[in-house]
Amino acid sequence: MRVTVVGSGYVGTTLAACLADAGHDVTAIDIDPDVVAAINDGHAAIHEPGLDELLAEHAGDRLRATTEYGGVPDADVTFLAIGTPSNEDGSIDLGALTAAAEMTGEALAEAGAADGSASGAPDDRHLVVVKSTITPPGVRAVREALDEGAGDAADRVELATNPEFLREGTAVDDFQHPDKLVFGAESEWATARLEALYEPLVAATDGDVPVIRTDPETAVMIKYANNAFLASKISLANDLGNICKRFGIDAYEVMDAVGLDDRIGARFLRSGVGWGGSCFPKDVDAIRSAAREAGYEPAMLDAAVAVNDGQPERMLELLDSHADVAGERVAVLGLAFKPGTDDIRNSRAIPVIEGLQARGAEVVGYDPVATANMRERFPDAAYADSAAGALEGATAALVVTDWDEFAALDDAFDAMAAPVVIDGRRIVERRDGLTYEGLTW
Ligand code: UDX
Repeated sequence: MRVTVVGSGYVGTTLAACLADAGHDVTAIDIDPDVVAAINDGHAAIHEPGLDELLAEHAGDRLRATTEYGGVPDADVTFLAIGTPSNEDGSIDLGALTAAAEMTGEALAEAGAADGSASGAPDDRHLVVVKSTITPPGVRAVREALDEGAGDAADRVELATNPEFLREGTAVDDFQHPDKLVFGAESEWATARLEALYEPLVAATDGDVPVIRTDPETAVMIKYANNAFLASKISLANDLGNICKRFGIDAYEVMDAVGLDDRIGARFLRSGVGWGGSCFPKDVDAIRSAAREAGYEPAMLDAAVAVNDGQPERMLELLDSHADVAGERVAVLGLAFKPGTDDIRNSRAIPVIEGLQARGAEVVGYDPVATANMRERFPDAAYADSAAGALEGATAALVVTDWDEFAALDDAFDAMAAPVVIDGRRIVERRDGLTYEGLTW
């Protein structure tokens, strides 16, 4: 099939590359000429394992990028994968997405007028699929923008939603091996088109991917419910973990046992300094804001956020109980919001560094890949080239990201001025000679 993907960020670039790899003919559109040039050159503007290989293989063949919308009408499906950043109040800003929807509509209207195909016959229909994460009320806003752009051609344009569940760091693999596919469409025609599009992907996984066929609003709600559930699951593990810590109990021992109940499941029960990233904080805020707008107070989700916001401070209080860090060197190990990425958006390292600076500590950060990003955020902090370098002469170390390499730092801890380790991810082993505090164990 011929596919257009509007927006070449994390989700858009992964989608374009994976659809090309599945055998489709893909055109990626982005307003940034540098992003477009990179894709045409066979590499991504973002770092994601396996993505460059796919782009290198398919760019110039089944995949191309452009800044122009002119080719949209030739496609069988147009995806909108445009960012929806947060507003101050937690709601999402649909400005860029609705602008792209309107331009898509305009491109379809122009083609209809030019080739005289605006007959309303089924074959003239065009499917526009929202990949971006939008709230149920947001669906209507995008539909209106699309219709506005399409003008008289609006009745030949159908909007569907198809939320994406991929994780950063494993985006390509997650896209190619999804737990489920969610098609939010208003007609059987649109559902069938999405099924045809994903058919090669489903076939490659022996056809055992569950497909949910529903309406566009329900589909986007599934995405929010999914992320709100996972974020709350971690927050509940943190809440219980904080209780365990008060009783001198290891929360990991408790949760390993709890996770064996298959109604609960073992994953996303790792307690510690909490969740960050580009999705959980933003999506939980967006659905809370949309709920309030609709007259409902989301008590559980408010609590999930409150617990999460409290974890970095709990880490700092544990530090306070062992050392006064004013004027002292303190190492922050891990700056990325999780291992495997250089993304620092909503990283727990941010409130941890802020808290250390408020205490007058001299912060030395280390991360295998995220240092450059954190330096932009905290230019006044110091950064080391290695974990050992950060630890040398430090009074305390705070472990914020569960990079594997932090599990093997034994000798480096010995070079600390005072070996106090506050572990927010249960990655460092408790041992003699270390004053070790786990956040929930
Ligand atoms: C998440 C969802 O998993 C994905 O389905 C969605 O499409 C986007 O949001 P991502 O943000 O890439 O993906 O990372 P994820 O691996 O889910 O981790 C999110 C945060 O939760 C990280 O800060 C991680 O450290 C934290 N986390 C995760 C925990 O604190 N404990 C856990 O048990 C699991």
